[in-house]
Amino acid sequence: MGRTVRSPPRKGWLPSVTFRPGTVVITGAGPGDLGHVSLLAFAYLRKADVIIYDRLTDHSIFQHARKGTELIYAGKGPRRKVQQARINLLLRDQARKGKRVLRWKGGDPYIYGRGYDERQFLEEAGIPVRCLPGISSVTGLPTIAGIPVLHRGTASTFGVFTGELGKENTSDGISLQRIALACDTLIGVMVVKKLGLIVKELRKVRRADEPVALIVEGATPRQKVLRTTLAKLPELARRQKVTSPALLIVGKVAALP
Ligand SMILES: C[S@@+](CC[C@H](N)C(=O)[O-])C[C@H]1O[C@@H](n2cnc3c(N)ncnc32)[C@H](O)[C@@H]1O
Repeated sequence: MGRTVRSPPRKGWLPSVTFRPGTVVITGAGPGDLGHVSLLAFAYLRKADVIIYDRLTDHSIFQHARKGTELIYAGKGPRRKVQQARINLLLRDQARKGKRVLRWKGGDPYIYGRGYDERQFLEEAGIPVRCLPGISSVTGLPTIAGIPVLHRGTASTFGVFTGELGKENTSDGISLQRIALACDTLIGVMVVKKLGLIVKELRKVRRADEPVALIVEGATPRQKVLRTTLAKLPELARRQKVTSPALLIVGKVAALP
């Protein structure tokens, strides 16, 4: 037998947090809509003086910030890209003004999020930083779309790669093939621009009829999940005019009903 809750819901349900002036909290806001924001992230949002935010977050959450909170966009969309060095300086300068600075990032700050770079830069400048995790699109979006990244008997390992092939500090054809050989399920972020090349590299080590799923604008009202095979993916994505953000899942789990 379970227990029954006997008292009315408690008031003050948010975790209690101390947000000191002149400090920065770097937090992940999860993927897609604001329902994926953690209570801890929300508690800091209510205390921030300035929020420096990314493109891939649900901006409607900022209506819950305190009146007078300053909102500064620092996104890296395909069209408008704020340089990382400028973001670092912005964070530092706001903190030096004595503000409580909230860095609001999509997904988890350490998963292809430059969160650690920002933390290092700020700590070297003598600014106290706290980092909070977020639900990453990498594991969150497949779950939301009904695709288990791991499943007993189907996939027991998964690996993550970025589709920004060839850029400094990102995957190249060799590392992509290495993880494609080592892991059952592969998950790719930032895959739209070079989808054809990614598929070409993967087909060197994975079957043409390998199941794939592409989750476009996941966890938003516009979410679309395309399911096909590796070989047919580029053509389908072209026909469907897929644009960023999209998450790629390769492996048997992508065909599970
Ligand atoms: C720069 S990475 C940041 C990842 C983030 N730190 C995380 O943990 O989810 C951005 C990529 O994440 C994926 N992504 C993030 N949000 C998404 C969404 N709502 N729908 C589909 N893909 C998404 C896309 O592959 C996108 O290109």
